[in-house]
Amino acid sequence: MASGEGSNFEAVVDACRQGQLPADVVQLVVNRADCGAVERAKRLGIPTVLLDHTTIPSREDLDGRIVSCFEASGVDLVVMAGWMRIVTQVLIDAYPQRLINIHPSLLPSFRGARAIEQALRAQVRISGCTAHLVELEVDAGPILVQAAVPVLGEDSAETLAERIHQQEHRILPLAVLVAAERLGLLAEQPQG
Ligand code: GAR
Repeated sequence: MASGEGSNFEAVVDACRQGQLPADVVQLVVNRADCGAVERAKRLGIPTVLLDHTTIPSREDLDGRIVSCFEASGVDLVVMAGWMRIVTQVLIDAYPQRLINIHPSLLPSFRGARAIEQALRAQVRISGCTAHLVELEVDAGPILVQAAVPVLGEDSAETLAERIHQQEHRILPLAVLVAAERLGLLAEQPQG
């Protein structure tokens, strides 16, 4: 699931294709037709479904439509790779322990929108990123993997975001692996 540039989406696809993650990305869901993730999916040959939240009456309805898409594709595990909508119990209940989010701060610090700007405003010297299982409370839930990123004196939101992104691309596939391992999904993989 993506709403933005889709660099984390691509990192997960790359990790699968390079053999670091024994999985296939079978589908992308976006909520904006013009988001960068759509172009990446096209280039990578991954089918994309657009669910424009502005045309769907409620968050629950949006999540219900997402669940229908993923059920039709036989999805085992769902990754929110820059998904900028608050999710509901509808999605969480459909994928217990199987719904992963990536957030650009060391949670539980700086939850919510514009986490990188929040960290800069607070003048922290170390920030980072967190991959975690999703709960109803926004940017909460059991942490799977974190990476620390030093904040440099001259950092702008853009320069810090760039370094945080590099770490996100590393830890998100790792978090998927950790979650899949805990669920016993890897044992179900055909050998050979
Ligand atoms: C990432 O930095 C991700 O942590 C953040 O959106 C960015 C998406 O980048 N997600 C959140 O802030 C969710 N609360 P991308 O589209 O290039 O993957």
